[in-house]
Amino acid sequence: MADRLSETRRAFDEWADSYEEDVRKGLGVLEGHDQSLARAAKLLPVEPGQKLLDVGVGTGAFGVLFEERGATVTGVDISPRMLELAGRNHPRWPLHEGHFMALPLADSSMDAVVSAFAFHHLETAERPDALREIFRVLRRGGAFLLVDILFADEGAKDLARRRLGEQWEEENYAVFPDVAKAAAEVGLVAAFSRLSDLHGAVLLKPKER
Ligand SMILES: C[S@@+](CC[C@H](N)C(=O)[O-])C[C@H]1O[C@@H](n2cnc3c(N)ncnc32)[C@H](O)[C@@H]1O
Repeated sequence: MADRLSETRRAFDEWADSYEEDVRKGLGVLEGHDQSLARAAKLLPVEPGQKLLDVGVGTGAFGVLFEERGATVTGVDISPRMLELAGRNHPRWPLHEGHFMALPLADSSMDAVVSAFAFHHLETAERPDALREIFRVLRRGGAFLLVDILFADEGAKDLARRRLGEQWEEENYAVFPDVAKAAAEVGLVAAFSRLSDLHGAVLLKPKER
């Protein structure tokens, strides 16, 4: 895992300075990035003053949508350069270097957790542990909103792959049934929302007893 994490850190440190411009161009699997974030943000109710963690915060594009609704945003990212840029965009946010499997935050310290376009950097077998770690930092009753290049099923993923053709980059993009399975393993329930033919959101909460 350590090698893969340092490779991801290096790749995003390198990409960071042109990341926002590339997203604006809207090419490849990030096509419609901003629209998908805007749609997804509506799926998570937040109250003014609530503490929200954005994992894989990048330059802050997702977290800011919740700050606009009164949340206090904290960011975690594996890439120091991304965190520098997030700090420039959002000087008041607490920002920490860390990753899904080891969040540098106290137990039950957050009201909500969100993550956009970062979950596919996990291997399938790591997903349950990552979810466990996210729910460790969430207070009782808190929810996790996951947005990614994520599909209802393998058929939808195949269609997207064919539509994008050469612009498709093969990475470990999830299909909802696999996320639901990982969620069930750690006592969570998952609800899927399609955001576009490339992007999906999953809202995860503890299973009610
Ligand atoms: C495609 S960018 C998305 C950034 C931002 N969330 C957005 O939607 O614009 C993915 C981000 O996730 C971070 N990342 C990748 N793997 C990660 C991991 N295992 N843990 C935490 N952050 C990670 C990258 O450094 C990068 O900033």
